[in-house]
Amino acid sequence: MHSSTSIAMRLRNSIAVGFMRTSPSEIVGNSRGKPPADHTPRFTASATWRRCALQFVSSDQEFAIPTTGRPSKTASLNPSVLSHERCAKPSRSLRPNQLRLLSGCVVMSASGTSIIDRREESMRLAGKVAVVTGGGSGIGRGIVLAMAREGADIAIPDIQVLNAEKVAGEVKTLGRKVVAMKTDVTSPADVKAMVDRTREAFGKVDILVNNAGMAAPPGMPFTNNTEEDWDRAFAVNTKSVFLTCKAIAPHFIERKAGRIINIASIAGPATSVTMPPYSVAKQGVITFTRIVAKELAQHRITVNAICPGVLWTDFWQKLAAHLAETNPAFKGMTPRQVFEKRVADLVPMKTEQHPEDIGAAAVFLASDEARYITGQALMVDGGCVMW
Ligand SMILES: NC(=O)c1ccc[n+]([C@@H]2O[C@H](COP(=O)([O-])OP(=O)(O)OC[C@H]3O[C@@H](n4cnc5c(N)ncnc54)[C@H](O)[C@@H]3O)[C@@H](O)[C@H]2O)c1
Repeated sequence: MHSSTSIAMRLRNSIAVGFMRTSPSEIVGNSRGKPPADHTPRFTASATWRRCALQFVSSDQEFAIPTTGRPSKTASLNPSVLSHERCAKPSRSLRPNQLRLLSGCVVMSASGTSIIDRREESMRLAGKVAVVTGGGSGIGRGIVLAMAREGADIAIPDIQVLNAEKVAGEVKTLGRKVVAMKTDVTSPADVKAMVDRTREAFGKVDILVNNAGMAAPPGMPFTNNTEEDWDRAFAVNTKSVFLTCKAIAPHFIERKAGRIINIASIAGPATSVTMPPYSVAKQGVITFTRIVAKELAQHRITVNAICPGVLWTDFWQKLAAHLAETNPAFKGMTPRQVFEKRVADLVPMKTEQHPEDIGAAAVFLASDEARYITGQALMVDGGCVMW
């Protein structure tokens, strides 16, 4: 029910169009004070409309009926009275077959009609605890802040602990609980200690985001890469995901709940010739995501990957500086110019993306709305990879 209202809010000012057998006055009452018809659900005529309506609500037992008009100052908290008063003067903008979704929303269920106050309880991750590895900068910070804004308490394990502490300060100002800790995700002992400490601090973990990662030095040709490049790229980007999943799985299985979100990259499915070890390591993350998703699905645990495109974080700043120095195609360019050229060449949307974009996708995959999505690799990349 919470997420129903939250979705309605996120579609504020949207128009939903559908066909109804019932008239608008049956749904919202009319201007002469006729109350809404007393039956649920309200939309029954068209399977198409029903499907359409269900796209706007997350529960299959409830219909969110958008309304117009302001809540009356004198409205009591009796939901049906409130519903009636809110709709006593239908707005001219409410026409047959057209509903405007406003921030106010009446939720009708088999048990009756109720108004949901949309504040704390509409936060999609309220009461959840999320671990975001590498949350001290870039995309990880974007995910941390997006999840904290949606109500989650956060653990930030990062090898650069000062950065993690800085982001922890930002989480505190959002009113959430947070722990920052120094963790090397390639070390099994560090990973175990990180999970233990998070459980001690919060009593549980609901969401694991495997975000920590690093670029590999460019190949071009692939023979340029060393054995160390391969070992490091694999340890930080791929083996780390195995270690954290292994450490958290028993806890998730015991609770019969949990979300794992692995930050892979378009470099995997796009077969990046510029960074062979990184490309292979990130494709490995996607394959491992599917393996763990299949295994843990029976425990109601979902496991998905997000593949970001091209973001101006530390990761790309270093990579662009390296490319400017070593690749004749970028000779004389500043790192930022190299980055902008890559965006122009690679991204159909032609604009750079930001950590918030990845944060929003991670919140979605961690939320109740995504409870039936598992084993997927979601491209959040402005259209670079379409499959
Ligand atoms: N920036 C991009 O364009 C891009 C694109 C696709 C995928 N990614 C992926 O997104 C993730 C985040 O990258 P970013 O762009 O924010 O880079 P970033 O360098 O800003 O952040 C990486 C974070 O991981 C941490 N980290 C690195 N090694 C670690 C280790 N061994 N143990 C613990 N923490 C460690 C770093 O300290 C840092 O906080 C990475 O997995 C990266 O591969 C980035």
